[in-house]
This record gives sequence, structure tokens and C-alpha cells, in this order.
Amino acid sequence: MTDPTPVVGAARTARLVGDLGSARPAYRALADALRVAVADGRIALGSRLPSERELTGALGVSRTTVSRAYEVLRDGGYLVSRRGSGSLVTLPEGSRRRGSSSLFPADPRDDVIDLTCAATRAPVGVVEAYERAVGLLPRYLTGAGYLVFGVPELREAIADRYTERGLPTTPDDVIVTSGAVAGINIVTSSLVHPGDRVVVENPGYPNTLDVLRRAGARLAPLPMDPDGWDVQGAVATVRAARARAAVLVPDFQNPTGALMADDDRARLAAALRAAGTTTLVDETIVEVDLEGGPMPLPFAAHLPGAVTVGSASKSHWGGLRTGWLRAPRGGTAHLVESRAASDLGAPVLEQLVLLELMRAAPGITDERRLDLRASRSALLEALSQHLPDVRTTPARGGLSLWCELPPDLPSSRLAVAAEDEGLLVAAGPRFAVDGGLERWLRLPHVLPGEAMAEAVRRLAVAAGAVRADRGRGRARPARPSSHGLVA
Ligand SMILES: Cc1ncc(COP(=O)(O)O)c(C=O)c1O
Repeated sequence: MTDPTPVVGAARTARLVGDLGSARPAYRALADALRVAVADGRIALGSRLPSERELTGALGVSRTTVSRAYEVLRDGGYLVSRRGSGSLVTLPEGSRRRGSSSLFPADPRDDVIDLTCAATRAPVGVVEAYERAVGLLPRYLTGAGYLVFGVPELREAIADRYTERGLPTTPDDVIVTSGAVAGINIVTSSLVHPGDRVVVENPGYPNTLDVLRRAGARLAPLPMDPDGWDVQGAVATVRAARARAAVLVPDFQNPTGALMADDDRARLAAALRAAGTTTLVDETIVEVDLEGGPMPLPFAAHLPGAVTVGSASKSHWGGLRTGWLRAPRGGTAHLVESRAASDLGAPVLEQLVLLELMRAAPGITDERRLDLRASRSALLEALSQHLPDVRTTPARGGLSLWCELPPDLPSSRLAVAAEDEGLLVAAGPRFAVDGGLERWLRLPHVLPGEAMAEAVRRLAVAAGAVRADRGRGRARPARPSSHGLVA
């Protein structure tokens, strides 16, 4: 039987570690770089690091440097060495970092400010919507409750919203899922086979990248500028990749917040059609327009064969765990076949709650828009006060700022230091298709203004700690934090 343990090769490990430069002692810097790569998910938990001999060769350092670095990692709880299995990556007990590249919030019992996810608390009116939904429930109680296509009235409300946005849709074109990530999994499992090429934005949404990697896809990155798509470059990528599939987030892209203009949609759609690339359009964030005014047409209006995934998570509340897929011309039947292998429908009550919420407001309410804008202003103000060399340009919509860091603040190190201060953030490399993005950090503006300001104060303390370590010419050792965490 072959050993299923994933292996991180010596060359890849050397790339992840990067240039150790003049950092002294070198073993400490090596241990720190490996710890950061585990913490931000670039080295998966449970994987086997190269042998000391292999890594010595790949890095061009002494064997003692690698041996002592591995010793530091073992002492810090980041590595276990087993006879016959080599050195396996693990996490110190009690650490909140999960070493996965998918994003999900910390346990709510943890005493931290959690900006890992761009998700808000429930808006006003959710309790009342639950109460009304309970009133609608009895008519479903005589059936089995396994609604693999979804609650009919909700499918109708979702279809109407597409039609209103300029994409004629019938309830038959829609299935309700347990959120957008579940929808992305359904489409991926029906479409993508190991070795298939899939075009994705870089930076992109980590959980989608993770779903695709787990399906064995080869990812073809479509580079994003901070302010949007280089459409000429994107068209060239699509032509050259001739990929099986593409996943795009044209509406307030995560993490950049960019919104694709109508004529760019038309050009990219034409290239995708010509390349025979099946396109999944992720519209999870489309309703979070913070400024208002006319929106571009849905991407699928330019590419009628596209499948679209949507969600209530950003427009209403993530706790509903409700999303949907739109696939025209009988495509939903095929998707339901694929879905049934892992899940037989979303909960009926939550679907009825979303129906109630959509009847009151299909997108975000003005009150919610004002709230999100106030949080964003508080974040911008705190950044200009405490971290004036962090640069960002707010987008028209979305729930986060994509921030460019100064060169002496690598994002992964900043995120690790921030955790010591009781602040969880997702570093730039989490959003990278193929590594890099250390100059970028995503900061969601999803908490009340005072909490946003406190988050930035903690980030500034973390930045000071990273800079102090650099000034001393060596990386910081793992140490228990003031919050009882192990760094
Ligand atoms: C682009 C994108 N897709 C999907 C999701 C997850 O959506 P859901 O909560 O519906 O699974 C998010 C959440 O941040 C997102 O930004």
C-alpha cells in the first residue's frame, strides 16, 4: 500500500522559506519562516517536511541550521518526528490557527477580534422573519422535508431577483443549497476531474481555491490588479488555458472588491465561450453595493451557458446557511444528481426565513448599507491614524479593504504577530493561487466602528513587534502570547 501522507518537497519548502538573507541566527529564521507557512496554510497540517539532508541541499545552508530549526519547531509543537515517517507538520495544542487555506471564523468562545471572515452579524429583522417562517412551516410538515431543489416559493423569489437584475430566470432554473460554498462544491464535483485546468482569479477566494485543489484541478491564475481585471490579459489567459472551467467573482471580487464593467464582461464572456470553458460565476457579494446606482448586468447575461452561484450570507445573514445555484435550460436536474451524493437539501425553516427576508428586501437594506459604510469609515480612519503607510482604495462595494503593506511588514508575519495581540486576520498568501502576495492583507469592515478601531490598534502593536524583530536582525521565536495562545 502506498503511504498517503502528503509530502512537501525540498524545492517547494525552499521556495516557501524564501531568502534567509542575513537573518541571524539562521536556524531561528528558518524555523520562523516554516512556522509562518504552516500558520497561514501554505504547508498543510499532517504533511511531511523534507529530510534534514534534502532541505540542507535545497537551501544551501549547513546541516546544523536545518537540524536546529527542526528542533525549535518540535519544541514549539509544530513538528512531530516519528521513526519511519519523517517529520510531520502539526499545530501546538491550544493554537487557533488551523493550518488550512480555507477561511472560517474562530470559535465564538475565543476572546479575540476575529477578522478572518468578511461576514457580519445578523441585521435587524431576522428574529421576526424566523417567527413568521414558523407560521409558514405547517404546510411543509406533511411532506418528508427533503427538498433537493428547494422550497418552491423561495426558488421563485430568487428567480424574480435575477429577472429584476436583467437576467430572465424561472424557478426551474434555480436550486437552493446550503450556502455558496456548498453550491461551488456541487458544481465542482459534477464538472471538474483530477488534472482538469480551471481558470481562477489571483488573488481569489481561498475556500473556492481549496475546493478546486481538493478536486485535483490544475489552477490557471487570472491576475487581478488591485483595482480590477486586466481584461486584455484575462482574455489571453482564457485563450491560452483552454480550461475545462473558470470561476469568476465579477461583483465586488473577494478580496479586491473590484466590480467588472459591462463591456469587460462582454469581452471576457466571448473569450470563455470561444474557448469552450464552462464558467461558474460567484455572485455571493453582488448585493453589497455600498454606494448604490445602476449595476452592470449579471455576468450570465453575457454568457447564457454559465452557472451562477448566489448566497444569502452577505445580503442577509451567514447563519441561514442558505445559497443557490442558477443553471438554465434543464441544468439544475444534472446538478441535483451531483448534490444528492453529499446532501439531500437545505433546512426548510431557514429557506422560509430567507423567503420572508427577501420579500421584505431582496438585497441589503439602506440601514445595513449605512452601517457597513460607517464601519468602513472607522477602519479607514484608524488606519490613517495608526498605520499611515498601509495603502488602500475603497471599492464601490463588498465587505473588506484589500490593503497594500509597506515592504518591512510581510503579511504572514503580521498576521502571526496580530494573533499574539488577540486579533485574527487572513494574510495575503491565503488568497494566492501559487504563493506570494506577502505585500497584501485583507481587512473586512464587518464590526461596529469602535471594534474596527480597536482591531487597527492591535494591528499597529503587531506591526511594531514585527519591525522590532527585523531591527534586531532575527525572526521572533515562538512564544506564549499575552492571550494564552502559542504563537
Ligand atoms: C466570493 C465568495 N464566495 C462564497 C462565499 C461563502 O459563501 P457562503 O457563506 O454562502 O457559503 C464567500 C464568503 O465570504 C465569498 O466571499
